[in-house]
Amino acid sequence: MCRKYVIANWKMNPATQAQAMSLAKALQAIEADVVKVGCAPSFLHIAGIFEQLTNKTIWLGAQDVCANAQSTGAYTGDVSAGQLQDLGVDFVLIGHSERRTYHHESQDVLLAKIQQAQQAGLVAVLCVGENQEQYHNERTLDVLAEQLALLDGVDVDAKRLLIAYEPVWAIGTGLTPTVAQIEQVHHHIKLTLAGYGLVDVCVLYGGSVNENNAQQFASSAKIDGALVGGASLKIDSFAAIVSAFANA
Ligand code: PGA
Repeated sequence: MCRKYVIANWKMNPATQAQAMSLAKALQAIEADVVKVGCAPSFLHIAGIFEQLTNKTIWLGAQDVCANAQSTGAYTGDVSAGQLQDLGVDFVLIGHSERRTYHHESQDVLLAKIQQAQQAGLVAVLCVGENQEQYHNERTLDVLAEQLALLDGVDVDAKRLLIAYEPVWAIGTGLTPTVAQIEQVHHHIKLTLAGYGLVDVCVLYGGSVNENNAQQFASSAKIDGALVGGASLKIDSFAAIVSAFANA
């Protein structure tokens, strides 16, 4: 059985180092015993936040990783898994829809990123999800099968893999699927992965999770946690989401 995860994806926020440090300070105060609480800040803020977090139970993440090299090399603008690991990073988000959209990341690139992260000892959190048109055309399960196919027959460690199901139409919109729809998708994801020999992989839901709707997601045994964008920047909201999962 999975433990529950609640992960903050700060995206390209906040605007200043000082604001990031004060968010991290507030994050520290959140009770993180039962639930694994994670935070993926901007690359720029990772080192400062690691210093700030005297409570090392907070799981520190990055939002991307270099696909091409494990440690160092001529890859301008990239950050390697080894460099992240050296800074105290535990996990990396891979294939978030915003990266797929704005950086056109291919399946090959995503797989390389997962493998680089895992080889450095990091957990790879692979984000998948259908867009609005695919959802309306009832293609969700097909689209997810296509996105997950990169994990078929490759050298990937199930113990260092999480999936975040994030429907693109639910990200930042205030819209969410029903719990029953999410459960169906999570079941499908787990079955697909099991078919690839990847068992016991936890599946998180992401997309407009907030303090008002967290309870319903938390109470489902098929939803192993949440990846939270907007609401993670308001510490009270994020703390309420964590406690919804802690008390479920
Ligand atoms: P949201 O973003 O919670 O603001 O919808 C989630 C995400 O993009 O990970």
